[in-house]
Amino acid sequence: MKKVLAYTRVSKPVRDALESEYKVSYFENYEYIEDEDFKKELKEASGIIGLELKVTQELLDLAPNLEIVSNVSVGYDNLDILEMTKRNIMATNTPGILTDTVADAVLGMILASARRIPELDKFVKEGKWKKYLQIDQFGTDVHNKKIGIIGMGGIGKAIAKRCHLGFDMEILYYNRSRKPEIEDIYDATFCDLEYLLKESDFVVLMIPGSKKTEHFMRAEQFKQMKETSIFINASRGRNIDENALYNSLVNKEILAAALDVFETEPVDTNNPLLSLRNVMTLPHIGAATKENELSMSRLAKKNLIAGLNGEIPPNLINYEVINGKNNI
Ligand code: GLV
Repeated sequence: MKKVLAYTRVSKPVRDALESEYKVSYFENYEYIEDEDFKKELKEASGIIGLELKVTQELLDLAPNLEIVSNVSVGYDNLDILEMTKRNIMATNTPGILTDTVADAVLGMILASARRIPELDKFVKEGKWKKYLQIDQFGTDVHNKKIGIIGMGGIGKAIAKRCHLGFDMEILYYNRSRKPEIEDIYDATFCDLEYLLKESDFVVLMIPGSKKTEHFMRAEQFKQMKETSIFINASRGRNIDENALYNSLVNKEILAAALDVFETEPVDTNNPLLSLRNVMTLPHIGAATKENELSMSRLAKKNLIAGLNGEIPPNLINYEVINGKNNI
């Protein structure tokens, strides 16, 4: 019986189902690389399934039997794909199914930051609502505004749909390639980054995380935004320079920010962004709903089982490994 190491967010029903075919060891966290039990399981594991474990050369050296790493996430910036490919280890993710869930969360962030919902919720609960609200506590409208979406993949498209159909917003987008169908359906305008930053009332960053996208948003980019605009990041924390964002908020170069992701997660409690009134934060919950969690775990299981059975997993990332395998 092959061994599978499951960790963090693999739904219980999926773990139970895996147990009928594999010897499964489950770790609730992913920071166990120093832990002897974890290392022992790693040594024997043919498959790993879970969210956010950093699969580095060091970890791979400890896992000589590994055939597949199945991420329970669409992002795979935690995986050293090059090194895995060299070692003929398959990498998979869970694209598609989380698209609407993440887009819903982004709309929540847009609305909450524009209307200052978390701040005013606190105001009511702390008993400060003693008289009519002052105008300086008011938020800004969302409908009829201009949104700039950086990264027009599936999630970008789902955000554009909601903004266009639900809020009559004008859509600008910046992407590696043009998406004529989104221009046709949602009246979106393809533009360069500078134009998008200068024109948009809301800027949503939705690009994948990788070495290439590190600090994609730096001081220069934040400076190009309008002082009335709101920045939303639901992609990866490292895609932005947090110091630059902090400075641009403090210097009132932009109005506010909504962040679901951080350079370090869980976020350092001393992160200066947490001290700002006009920053709303979330603990990386874009894809985290009960329904979606189960669907993602199920898809990750499907990928894992296919890989361990010598088949091509439906969401294989590193297709190069196929040539190295005889039975695929
Ligand atoms: C969530 O951040 C994901 O990559 O699925």
